[in-house]
Amino acid sequence: MSDSLFKSIVERRRSVRVFDNNAPFDDSVVSKALSLAVLSANSSNMQLWEFYQVKTQSVHEALNKACMGQSAAKTANQLVVFVTRQDKWKERVKWNLANLHKQFEGKTLTKKDERALAYYQKLMPLVYRNDFFGLNTLIRSIIVFFMGFNKPFLRIRNHGDQRVMCHKSCALAAQTFMLSMASDGYDTCPMEGFDSDLVKKILKLPPAAEINMIIACGVGKPEGIYSDRIRVPNEDVIFAV
Ligand SMILES: Cc1cc2nc3c(=O)[nH]c(=O)nc-3n(C[C@H](O)[C@H](O)[C@H](O)COP(=O)(O)O)c2cc1C
Repeated sequence: MSDSLFKSIVERRRSVRVFDNNAPFDDSVVSKALSLAVLSANSSNMQLWEFYQVKTQSVHEALNKACMGQSAAKTANQLVVFVTRQDKWKERVKWNLANLHKQFEGKTLTKKDERALAYYQKLMPLVYRNDFFGLNTLIRSIIVFFMGFNKPFLRIRNHGDQRVMCHKSCALAAQTFMLSMASDGYDTCPMEGFDSDLVKKILKLPPAAEINMIIACGVGKPEGIYSDRIRVPNEDVIFAV
Protein backbone atom coordinates (compact mmCIF):
# COMPACT_ATOMS: atom_id res chain seq x y z
CA MET A 1 0.00 0.00 0.00
CA SER A 2 1.34 3.40 -0.88
CA ASP A 3 2.20 5.81 1.90
CA SER A 4 -0.28 8.32 0.52
CA LEU A 5 -3.14 5.77 0.51
CA PHE A 6 -2.64 4.95 4.21
CA LYS A 7 -2.27 8.67 4.99
CA SER A 8 -5.48 9.47 3.16
CA ILE A 9 -7.39 6.78 5.12
CA VAL A 10 -6.04 8.04 8.45
CA GLU A 11 -6.87 11.61 7.47
CA ARG A 12 -10.35 10.67 6.27
CA ARG A 13 -11.34 9.11 9.58
CA ARG A 14 -13.00 11.72 11.74
CA SER A 15 -15.41 11.36 14.63
CA VAL A 16 -18.70 12.14 12.94
CA ARG A 17 -21.66 12.89 15.22
CA VAL A 18 -24.46 13.26 12.67
CA PHE A 19 -25.26 10.56 10.13
CA ASP A 20 -27.64 10.53 7.22
CA ASN A 21 -29.73 7.51 8.06
CA ASN A 22 -31.75 7.89 4.86
CA ALA A 23 -28.64 7.39 2.74
CA PRO A 24 -28.03 3.91 1.28
CA PHE A 25 -25.92 1.94 3.72
CA ASP A 26 -24.25 -1.36 2.90
CA ASP A 27 -23.84 -3.16 6.20
CA SER A 28 -21.66 -5.86 4.63
CA VAL A 29 -18.95 -3.18 4.85
CA VAL A 30 -19.33 -3.33 8.65
CA SER A 31 -19.01 -7.13 8.56
CA LYS A 32 -15.89 -6.80 6.40
CA ALA A 33 -14.39 -4.19 8.75
CA LEU A 34 -15.04 -6.53 11.70
CA SER A 35 -13.34 -9.41 9.94
CA LEU A 36 -10.31 -7.13 9.52
CA ALA A 37 -10.56 -5.92 13.14
CA VAL A 38 -10.00 -9.49 14.39
CA LEU A 39 -6.62 -9.42 12.62
CA SER A 40 -5.46 -6.65 14.96
CA ALA A 41 -2.48 -7.12 17.21
CA ASN A 42 -3.67 -8.39 20.59
CA SER A 43 -2.04 -9.45 23.82
CA SER A 44 -0.61 -13.00 23.54
CA ASN A 45 -3.16 -13.70 20.80
CA MET A 46 -5.68 -14.33 23.59
CA GLN A 47 -8.38 -12.42 21.65
CA LEU A 48 -10.31 -11.56 24.80
CA TRP A 49 -12.81 -9.53 22.85
CA GLU A 50 -16.22 -9.71 21.19
CA PHE A 51 -17.88 -7.45 18.64
CA TYR A 52 -21.62 -6.95 18.40
CA GLN A 53 -22.93 -5.63 15.10
CA VAL A 54 -26.38 -4.31 15.97
CA LYS A 55 -28.89 -5.25 13.28
CA THR A 56 -32.08 -5.23 15.35
CA GLN A 57 -33.94 -1.91 15.51
CA SER A 58 -35.14 -2.42 19.10
CA VAL A 59 -31.57 -3.15 20.27
CA HIS A 60 -30.31 -0.05 18.41
CA GLU A 61 -32.97 2.07 20.13
CA ALA A 62 -32.15 0.62 23.56
CA LEU A 63 -28.43 1.29 22.99
CA ASN A 64 -29.23 4.79 21.83
CA LYS A 65 -30.87 5.38 25.24
CA ALA A 66 -27.84 3.81 26.96
CA CYS A 67 -25.65 6.29 25.02
CA MET A 68 -27.77 8.96 26.68
CA GLY A 69 -29.24 10.10 23.39
CA GLN A 70 -25.88 11.18 21.91
CA SER A 71 -26.50 12.32 18.38
CA ALA A 72 -23.90 9.92 16.93
CA ALA A 73 -25.82 6.95 18.37
CA LYS A 74 -29.25 8.36 17.57
CA THR A 75 -28.51 9.05 13.90
CA ALA A 76 -26.14 6.12 13.20
CA ASN A 77 -26.97 3.75 10.37
CA GLN A 78 -25.53 1.00 12.52
CA LEU A 79 -23.90 0.56 15.93
CA VAL A 80 -21.10 -1.84 16.82
CA VAL A 81 -20.28 -2.66 20.43
CA PHE A 82 -16.70 -3.59 21.32
CA VAL A 83 -16.58 -5.80 24.40
CA THR A 84 -13.72 -7.24 26.47
CA ARG A 85 -14.06 -10.83 27.72
CA GLN A 86 -11.34 -11.35 30.31
CA ASP A 87 -13.44 -14.23 31.66
CA LYS A 88 -12.75 -16.23 28.48
CA TRP A 89 -9.04 -16.61 29.23
CA LYS A 90 -9.23 -20.37 29.93
CA GLU A 91 -11.04 -21.00 26.65
CA ARG A 92 -8.43 -19.00 24.75
CA VAL A 93 -5.55 -20.78 26.49
CA LYS A 94 -7.07 -24.10 25.37
CA TRP A 95 -7.52 -22.77 21.83
CA ASN A 96 -3.91 -21.55 21.62
CA LEU A 97 -2.59 -24.81 23.08
CA ALA A 98 -4.66 -26.89 20.64
CA ASN A 99 -3.17 -24.88 17.76
CA LEU A 100 0.36 -25.36 19.06
CA HIS A 101 -0.19 -29.13 19.51
CA LYS A 102 -1.49 -29.33 15.94
CA GLN A 103 1.54 -27.38 14.72
CA PHE A 104 3.94 -29.65 16.66
CA GLU A 105 2.27 -32.96 15.73
CA GLY A 106 4.78 -35.71 14.92
CA LYS A 107 7.87 -33.60 15.53
CA THR A 108 10.46 -33.61 18.28
CA LEU A 109 9.90 -30.53 20.39
CA THR A 110 12.65 -27.93 20.37
CA LYS A 111 13.37 -25.65 23.33
CA LYS A 112 11.47 -22.91 21.46
CA ASP A 113 8.41 -25.19 21.06
CA GLU A 114 8.53 -26.07 24.77
CA ARG A 115 8.72 -22.40 25.65
CA ALA A 116 5.67 -21.70 23.46
CA LEU A 117 3.69 -24.43 25.26
CA ALA A 118 4.82 -23.22 28.69
CA TYR A 119 3.73 -19.70 27.74
CA TYR A 120 0.09 -20.84 27.55
CA GLN A 121 0.30 -23.66 30.11
CA LYS A 122 2.04 -21.65 32.84
CA LEU A 123 2.37 -17.93 32.16
CA MET A 124 -1.18 -17.19 30.95
CA PRO A 125 -2.83 -18.86 33.99
CA LEU A 126 -0.45 -16.92 36.23
CA VAL A 127 -1.36 -13.67 34.50
CA TYR A 128 -5.13 -14.14 34.20
CA ARG A 129 -6.28 -16.41 37.08
CA ASN A 130 -8.34 -14.71 39.76
CA ASP A 131 -10.21 -15.85 42.84
CA PHE A 132 -12.78 -14.44 45.23
CA PHE A 133 -10.29 -13.80 48.09
CA GLY A 134 -7.62 -12.09 45.97
CA LEU A 135 -5.13 -14.88 46.65
CA ASN A 136 -3.90 -14.86 43.05
CA THR A 137 -3.33 -11.11 43.19
CA LEU A 138 -1.32 -11.59 46.38
CA ILE A 139 0.73 -14.40 44.78
CA ARG A 140 1.37 -12.25 41.67
CA SER A 141 2.34 -9.23 43.78
CA ILE A 142 4.84 -11.33 45.76
CA ILE A 143 6.29 -12.86 42.58
CA VAL A 144 6.55 -9.42 40.95
CA PHE A 145 8.19 -7.97 44.08
CA PHE A 146 10.88 -10.62 44.34
CA MET A 147 11.43 -11.42 40.66
CA GLY A 148 11.31 -7.77 39.66
CA PHE A 149 13.35 -6.48 42.60
CA ASN A 150 16.50 -5.83 40.62
CA LYS A 151 15.67 -6.97 37.11
CA PRO A 152 13.01 -6.26 34.47
CA PHE A 153 9.86 -8.30 35.11
CA LEU A 154 6.28 -8.22 33.81
CA ARG A 155 4.33 -6.12 36.32
CA ILE A 156 0.86 -7.62 36.03
CA ARG A 157 -0.48 -7.84 39.55
CA ASN A 158 -4.17 -7.16 39.92
CA HIS A 159 -7.50 -7.00 38.19
CA GLY A 160 -6.81 -3.40 37.12
CA ASP A 161 -3.66 -4.52 35.27
CA GLN A 162 -5.61 -7.35 33.60
CA ARG A 163 -8.39 -4.99 32.55
CA VAL A 164 -5.87 -2.60 30.96
CA MET A 165 -4.42 -5.51 28.95
CA CYS A 166 -7.85 -6.49 27.62
CA HIS A 167 -8.95 -2.93 26.82
CA LYS A 168 -5.68 -2.13 25.01
CA SER A 169 -6.17 -5.01 22.58
CA CYS A 170 -9.85 -4.27 22.09
CA ALA A 171 -9.14 -0.60 21.36
CA LEU A 172 -6.61 -1.61 18.70
CA ALA A 173 -9.35 -3.70 17.06
CA ALA A 174 -11.65 -0.67 17.24
CA GLN A 175 -9.07 1.45 15.43
CA THR A 176 -8.59 -1.19 12.71
CA PHE A 177 -12.36 -1.28 12.34
CA MET A 178 -12.68 2.51 11.98
CA LEU A 179 -9.85 2.71 9.45
CA SER A 180 -11.42 -0.07 7.40
CA MET A 181 -14.76 1.79 7.44
CA ALA A 182 -12.96 4.97 6.39
CA SER A 183 -11.20 3.14 3.54
CA ASP A 184 -14.65 2.12 2.23
CA GLY A 185 -15.90 5.70 2.38
CA TYR A 186 -17.99 5.39 5.55
CA ASP A 187 -17.81 7.39 8.76
CA THR A 188 -17.64 6.38 12.40
CA CYS A 189 -17.74 7.83 15.90
CA PRO A 190 -16.16 5.94 18.80
CA MET A 191 -18.06 6.47 22.04
CA GLU A 192 -17.36 5.86 25.70
CA GLY A 193 -20.20 8.08 26.84
CA PHE A 194 -22.70 5.37 27.78
CA ASP A 195 -24.20 3.56 30.74
CA SER A 196 -22.09 0.40 30.67
CA ASP A 197 -24.38 -1.53 33.05
CA LEU A 198 -27.30 -0.83 30.77
CA VAL A 199 -25.36 -1.82 27.63
CA LYS A 200 -24.39 -5.12 29.26
CA LYS A 201 -28.01 -5.73 30.20
CA ILE A 202 -29.23 -4.97 26.65
CA LEU A 203 -26.67 -7.36 25.12
CA LYS A 204 -27.27 -9.95 27.86
CA LEU A 205 -23.57 -10.03 28.73
CA PRO A 206 -22.19 -11.69 31.87
CA PRO A 207 -20.87 -9.54 34.77
CA ALA A 208 -17.20 -10.07 33.79
CA ALA A 209 -17.68 -8.66 30.28
CA GLU A 210 -16.79 -4.97 29.88
CA ILE A 211 -17.83 -2.47 27.26
CA ASN A 212 -14.76 -1.03 25.59
CA MET A 213 -16.41 1.28 23.06
CA ILE A 214 -19.54 1.66 21.03
CA ILE A 215 -18.87 2.75 17.48
CA ALA A 216 -21.53 4.58 15.53
CA CYS A 217 -21.24 3.93 11.79
CA GLY A 218 -22.81 5.33 8.68
CA VAL A 219 -22.86 7.98 6.03
CA GLY A 220 -21.72 11.13 7.79
CA LYS A 221 -23.33 14.49 7.20
CA PRO A 222 -20.98 17.49 6.80
CA GLU A 223 -22.48 19.06 9.95
CA GLY A 224 -21.50 15.86 11.83
CA ILE A 225 -17.92 17.12 12.00
CA TYR A 226 -18.04 19.56 14.87
CA SER A 227 -14.64 21.20 14.51
CA ASP A 228 -11.37 21.25 12.62
CA ARG A 229 -9.07 18.43 13.51
CA ILE A 230 -6.64 19.92 15.98
CA ARG A 231 -3.93 18.27 18.05
CA VAL A 232 -1.42 19.53 20.59
CA PRO A 233 1.96 20.21 18.91
CA ASN A 234 3.88 17.06 17.95
CA GLU A 235 6.85 18.20 20.04
CA ASP A 236 4.65 18.00 23.17
CA VAL A 237 3.90 14.31 22.63
CA ILE A 238 6.48 12.81 20.28
CA PHE A 239 9.95 12.41 21.73
CA ALA A 240 13.18 11.04 20.37
CA VAL A 241 15.11 9.44 23.23
C1 LIG B 1 -12.15 6.03 23.64
C2 LIG B 1 -12.88 7.16 22.98
C3 LIG B 1 -14.10 7.57 23.48
C4 LIG B 1 -14.83 8.58 22.85
N1 LIG B 1 -16.07 8.90 23.31
C5 LIG B 1 -16.83 9.76 22.61
C6 LIG B 1 -18.19 9.97 22.96
O1 LIG B 1 -18.72 9.37 23.88
N2 LIG B 1 -18.90 10.84 22.23
C7 LIG B 1 -18.37 11.52 21.16
O2 LIG B 1 -19.09 12.30 20.53
N3 LIG B 1 -17.07 11.35 20.81
C8 LIG B 1 -16.30 10.47 21.50
N4 LIG B 1 -14.99 10.23 21.10
C9 LIG B 1 -14.43 10.94 19.95
C10 LIG B 1 -13.37 11.93 20.35
O3 LIG B 1 -13.94 13.05 20.94
C11 LIG B 1 -12.56 12.28 19.11
O4 LIG B 1 -11.87 11.13 18.67
C12 LIG B 1 -11.53 13.40 19.34
O5 LIG B 1 -12.17 14.59 19.63
C13 LIG B 1 -10.61 13.60 18.13
O6 LIG B 1 -11.36 13.87 16.95
P1 LIG B 1 -11.27 12.96 15.64
O7 LIG B 1 -11.68 11.56 16.05
O8 LIG B 1 -12.25 13.55 14.67
O9 LIG B 1 -9.88 12.96 15.14
C14 LIG B 1 -14.27 9.24 21.72
C15 LIG B 1 -13.04 8.82 21.23
C16 LIG B 1 -12.35 7.78 21.83
C17 LIG B 1 -11.06 7.30 21.25
